[in-house]
Amino acid sequence: MPRQAQNSRISLTLIKLVLLLCIEVKAQAGHLADDEVSALREIAPQLGKRDWNFKVDPCTSSHDQNWTTTQVNSNQPFDFNNTLICDCNHTNDGVCHVVQIFLRAQGLAGILPPALAKLHHLKIIDLNANYLSGNIPQEWASMQLEYLSISTNNLSGPIPTYLGNITTLKIMSIESNQFSGFVPPELGNLVNLEYLILSANNLIGKLPVTLSNLNKLTEFRISSNYFTGRIPDIFGTWKQLQKLEIQASGLEGPIPPSISALSTLTELRISDLFGEGSKFPSLHGMTNMSRLLLRSCNIYGPIPPNISDLKQLQILDLSFSKLEGTVPDLGGLARLEYMFLTSNLLTGNIPDWIKSSTKNIDISYNNFSKSSAPASLCPDTLNLFKSFSGRDNLELHECLDESPCSQDLYSLHINCGGKETTIGRMKYEGDEDPAGPAKYFYVKPNWGFSNTGHFWDIDNTQNDYLANNVSILTMENSQLYTSARLSPLSITYYARCLANGNYTVKLHFAEIVFRSTISSYSLGRRIFDVYIQEKLALKDFNIENEAQGLDKAVIKNFTAVVTNQVLMIRFHWAGKGTTAAPKRGIYGPLVSAISVESDRSPPVDGKIVVGAVVSVLLLIFMILGILWWKVCMGGRISMEKDESAFQSTPCKATE
Ligand SMILES: *[C@@H]1O[C@H](CO)[C@@H](O)[C@H](O)[C@H]1NC(C)=O
Ligand SMILES: *[C@@H]1O[C@H](CO)[C@@H](O)[C@H](O)[C@H]1NC(C)=O
Ligand SMILES: *[C@@H]1O[C@H](CO)[C@@H](O)[C@H](O)[C@H]1NC(C)=O
Ligand SMILES: *[C@@H]1O[C@H](CO)[C@@H](O)[C@H](O)[C@H]1NC(C)=O
Ligand SMILES: *[C@@H]1O[C@H](CO)[C@@H](O)[C@H](O)[C@H]1NC(C)=O
Repeated sequence: MPRQAQNSRISLTLIKLVLLLCIEVKAQAGHLADDEVSALREIAPQLGKRDWNFKVDPCTSSHDQNWTTTQVNSNQPFDFNNTLICDCNHTNDGVCHVVQIFLRAQGLAGILPPALAKLHHLKIIDLNANYLSGNIPQEWASMQLEYLSISTNNLSGPIPTYLGNITTLKIMSIESNQFSGFVPPELGNLVNLEYLILSANNLIGKLPVTLSNLNKLTEFRISSNYFTGRIPDIFGTWKQLQKLEIQASGLEGPIPPSISALSTLTELRISDLFGEGSKFPSLHGMTNMSRLLLRSCNIYGPIPPNISDLKQLQILDLSFSKLEGTVPDLGGLARLEYMFLTSNLLTGNIPDWIKSSTKNIDISYNNFSKSSAPASLCPDTLNLFKSFSGRDNLELHECLDESPCSQDLYSLHINCGGKETTIGRMKYEGDEDPAGPAKYFYVKPNWGFSNTGHFWDIDNTQNDYLANNVSILTMENSQLYTSARLSPLSITYYARCLANGNYTVKLHFAEIVFRSTISSYSLGRRIFDVYIQEKLALKDFNIENEAQGLDKAVIKNFTAVVTNQVLMIRFHWAGKGTTAAPKRGIYGPLVSAISVESDRSPPVDGKIVVGAVVSVLLLIFMILGILWWKVCMGGRISMEKDESAFQSTPCKATE
């Protein structure tokens, strides 16, 4: 059949003749309609797709690896998909139509092809994880697309209003691009939409209220944008919504009450809401909820005890709010894997169900009663760093079985995420612990870290919290940058036993994860904040922008005042940037090294001082002794020679 298809391009008459002759065979196998072959020939250069083989028929040459790559080989990117699917069954003339195209992670660096609109039967177009630029072409407005995914590309400009014409759309994702401007109210015309994903763009303004027309929505994500105003109360009509994600969208609180009507939710993620605070929203009846994140939402008041009714709950993240009171009994939530109550105002006793749990539980930065502390203060999966009220810090020595500080230190150097290394006379301590979702690391007597958070939407593995270089690094002191520490939410490096006074803090960064190749590996935007002594020191920090490139070092200097011998440097992800470029789960702070030095010139060690004083005194005694001996002996000799000519008092005294 491929040969006949090839012929068809040469002569339509000939193919008609062949068709008449071989009608039986053709009905079974078919060939792509001529106008669609022409369309594909136009589409290829627009996309930058170079390996389509037009010598064979795109529909029937499934053995031809250029049209459909079945074998996944290890050199292909993780997300690779190269598939063109035709429908040959709905015609009786042996003519096939392209109905689905998947071209994922192929480094395509062209544009969204206007000629795609010439594939009149196309229902699915998936161009994820490429490097396409420009905007969505106007020609597409006439298409009958059901599935449009152009996530993780270099697309820019406003979301076009004519997108609202493709009313057949069920799935639309434009995540991780550079789309800007307002969300057009015309998107409210897409009444068949089930998935609408707008996350990780530069969208601004208010969300149009017309979105409330989308009553078939099951998934809605708008995280990491620059929207303004309050979260609109548009959810009441979304009776089938299962997943709602509004993280660092720019929208302000309070959380609208209509959220409580979404009884079909399985996942609710709202974070980094400024503006007015909220009480804990009612989640009554949301019995399918498995992932609940209400982080940095300025929620006050108690955690409602009826969270224990959410029997499917696997992840509960209520961190960085103003929750008060005691922790309700959630010991009956058999599926709970992660719980983050980090940085709230929770009081009372740490419940027994938490102390006996083997799940990852982080209750660091709270006001629990110290008397309820578990026997072991530093278990691996329960983070109690600064969990207690009444005293400022949980001291590392309690985990180490060591006495409080025995001497003052004036400097500390850490090669974050890497091996111990020496630069000049400075030793950077190794920091290779794999960390974990709720981990207080405390092996060293004078420093440690508290890490909070797991990477969402991926299978978490041992090495998620460490990054290693993939290219050869050429900056000065490159051994500081070949490995780095990662955190999905918050990591505090903690130095203790420091002499009080002013310190210079140097933070070393280099973006070693993203690549500069023309591919989705160059499209990530890593954005995070840094706090020194709990004060914001860097806001929306982007290593790549600051260093003006990838694999380049940037060192930020700060002054910190140490008043209680403790210095804390905290790296925090506030929901900004991309989370799916080059692949899902890549986000959060990345730090290469930390250097902390007192502004006072490091004083001489006390023991050395004592030793030196003793040596000097000994030397003086010796010299005096020699002098005495010389003088006396000399005196005696001269006395013997001439008793009246030389008399010395010391000799007289000793004689
Ligand atoms: C990516 O898009 C931007 C516009 O947002 C453009 O300036 C840049 O040239 C594009 N990159 C490439 C390689 O086309
Ligand atoms: C979109 O639909 C509107 C209303 O039917 C029509 O006026 C407009 O021309 C269409 N836009 C495009 C680009 O086809
Ligand atoms: C929490 O504990 C700190 C330290 O003991 C204390 O200063 C603060 O007042 C407490 N806050 C609340 C709300 O209990
Ligand atoms: C990482 O960097 C080191 C030093 O620059 C280099 O020797 C090593 O080859 C790099 N690693 C990889 C995987 O390229
Ligand atoms: C620390 O620095 C501040 C200014 O940042 C200065 O006012 C203060 O005197 C310094 N303290 C010491 C002990 O040098």
